[in-house]
Amino acid sequence: MTYLITGGAGYIGAHVVRAMTQAGERAVVLDDLSTGERDRVPAEVPFVHGSTLDRPLLDRLIREHGVTGVVHLAAKKQVGESVEQPLHYYRENVEGLRVLLEAVVDGGVRQFVFSSSAAVYGMPDVELVTEETPCLPMSPYGETKLAGEWLVRAVGRAHGVATSCLRYFNVAGTAEPELADTGVFNLVPMVFEKLTERRAPLIFGDDYATPDGTCVRDYIHVEDLADAHLAAARRLTEASETGENPDLTLNIGRGEGVSVREMVELIGEITGHHALAPTVTARRPGDPARVVASADLVSKELGWQARHDVRAMITSAWAGWCRRHPEAVAERG
Ligand code: UFG
Repeated sequence: MTYLITGGAGYIGAHVVRAMTQAGERAVVLDDLSTGERDRVPAEVPFVHGSTLDRPLLDRLIREHGVTGVVHLAAKKQVGESVEQPLHYYRENVEGLRVLLEAVVDGGVRQFVFSSSAAVYGMPDVELVTEETPCLPMSPYGETKLAGEWLVRAVGRAHGVATSCLRYFNVAGTAEPELADTGVFNLVPMVFEKLTERRAPLIFGDDYATPDGTCVRDYIHVEDLADAHLAAARRLTEASETGENPDLTLNIGRGEGVSVREMVELIGEITGHHALAPTVTARRPGDPARVVASADLVSKELGWQARHDVRAMITSAWAGWCRRHPEAVAERG
């Protein structure tokens, strides 16, 4: 097996490359480096600089590297930006996927793992989100992921490609400081940034209908998430060998809700910056009160289970942050 991993120079993609190659799988990475970083990909893994919109490049790559499966992570992923630039998001996330799937079908590739998101559910009004919970995305980003899933499943059925759509919940942590997320768009790095500047972290609203009034999320360690990709890819390969043609749509979360206040307090404790108490500000528009996965189906289908807790996510993410921001440690207080 040789897997094409698109977006393999990104934060999550690089962890998928790491998990798959450490498990003995062959990989080739395609990344346009718009947000990815070349040095996240190990030197021994072939790297191709380019876009999934480039059909001739894809055809060449699949042929020359003997690609048998694809793990597709390359995408734009900022909710707010997607509201401002829907055309760009549909082009990159939906058209980029459509062109890739054409190349997959014409190139005889038989396995396809698609990076989806809990954003497809929008504002779920349930204790635990199952894969049957209605999908009502609230942003163009979420829409592109849902439309992507539809396309992946339809192509899988029509052309005999085994497919899996993995719906990520809130991803955090790092396997190695060098692979850490560099964006400051999510709760954990946003709190790190405030603490580094010796300013109070912000909590966006504490009047939600949740136990402590702050939003509840299901955080998943990126290393566990990467292992889920490996398990999905292997499951699809086995299925193809036995003539099955599965389309597995799976939540990737831990099934455990953690509130924003709990996260901020734990970050303060782990980083030693607990003296900086958080400030509560207005709600951020579009935030659902609670999004927590039911992780039953993925454990049944893939035998996968998360191994890392929130403490491990924050500790590893902080090590990655301090590598890029040495002043974060020096200014602790
Ligand atoms: N938050 C704060 N203060 C901050 C930053 C965030 O209170 O400084 C809160 C947010 O309001 C939210 C929670 O922390 O309640 C988590 O926010 P994130 O931005 O980390 O994550 P989201 O749950 O909003 O978004 C995540 C993914 C998106 C995905 C979305 C829906 O990052 O890609 O889940 O599944 F679209």
